[in-house]
Amino acid sequence: MASNKRLLVLPGDGIGPEVMGEVRRVIDWMDRRRSVSFDVAEDLVGGAAIEARGTPITEATVARAMDADAVLFGAVGGPQWDKLGFDMRPELAILTLRRELGLFANLRPAIVFDALVSASTLKPEVVQGLDLMIVRESTGGIYFGEPRGIETMPDGSRRGVNTEVYATHEIERVARVAFELARKRQSRVCSVEKANVMESGLLWRQTVTALQARAYPDVALSHMYADNCAMQLVRNPRQFDVIVTTNLFGDLLSDLASMLTGSLGMLPSATLGGAEAEGRRALYEPIHGSAPDIAGQGVANPLAQMLSFAMLLRYSFGLEADAALIERACADVLGAGLRTPDVMAPGCTRVGTTAMGDAVLRRLDELAA
Ligand code: NAD
Ligand code: IPM
Ligand code: MN
Repeated sequence: MASNKRLLVLPGDGIGPEVMGEVRRVIDWMDRRRSVSFDVAEDLVGGAAIEARGTPITEATVARAMDADAVLFGAVGGPQWDKLGFDMRPELAILTLRRELGLFANLRPAIVFDALVSASTLKPEVVQGLDLMIVRESTGGIYFGEPRGIETMPDGSRRGVNTEVYATHEIERVARVAFELARKRQSRVCSVEKANVMESGLLWRQTVTALQARAYPDVALSHMYADNCAMQLVRNPRQFDVIVTTNLFGDLLSDLASMLTGSLGMLPSATLGGAEAEGRRALYEPIHGSAPDIAGQGVANPLAQMLSFAMLLRYSFGLEADAALIERACADVLGAGLRTPDVMAPGCTRVGTTAMGDAVLRRLDELAA
């Protein structure tokens, strides 16, 4: 029996608890069938924590996350909390975890499953075989820069301020993650910013260029402005291997990339901090939100959350075979024609969240037999 691994599970709001429920079943399955046992603790974050405790995330929850071997996060937010201030919004839960745990590298893989080639709104020949990794900086940039706020001017008008700011070390550490990943893939990194209009973008480009020359001469580096990158992702996404970019651009480009794979409900992510040698902290979450428009209907696609759990097994625990098994089960279930509504196609069988989970568990049983 492998040693116990301590997981903190934070389902959050909306479809978060719905998709997390299916992953809990996979965790139980692994306990029974793969002899990988987890100590699973669960806690409230986001709107759920606001309702129960008056804050989107308590210090105790942050401490539990620091103490866990890995954190599995669902999604937070919803229209009922949209009028709260930024010090109170549900989204502060994920932003606080990224900042407090130092999770600066958000890995967002966009992989097109063969069965879903026709689920993309792009032509099959454009997306088939796509395997792209977006490395999004996630503790800096305009999300955290100072000054920020809304101020009232002497004439009574108001002004909203946010600041895009990047220091050399923040750029270097996330670029290193991208270069290291590229070495295990096609050894190509495209660095994305707007060095044509932003000083922070210019420093980003200079820093990544110098780092590549100094430490990664074997990796091919190109640069692209973020607006062009958005266009190129739709025109010819397979030109990219690894994209490294800022917090805000990475947020936008990864939602865009999710539609290449068929649905936002398909894209997992891993957010890593520190160096591997220091016992790397990590949080795993789908890139989608709480999807208030479909929450409570039992129709959310649980695969992004499942695939996030597979990334957890791979990156936090080195359980490559178990990660691959879960990915294979997800791919096979889609291959068998089962589809949640977001990826539904003619001739396929429409299922809800739980039936999708049932099918993944059945397939896991078959694969492990
Ligand atoms: P969203 O990602 O929640 O939803 C966008 C669209 O994609 C919706 O039509 C939704 O139904 C669909 N969708 C998303 N996930 C799906 C899934 N698994 N299966 C099927 N369809 C899915 O984005 P939004 O509507 O802009 O935001 C809703 C709330 O979620 C907001 O409060 C936002 O701040 C929050 N949010 C949270 C996170 C997070 O917790 N990490 C991420 C993004 C957005
Ligand atoms: C994401 C989300 C978050 C972000 C929000 C909820 C703070 O959109 O993880 O992509 O903007 O980073
Ligand atoms: Mn986002």
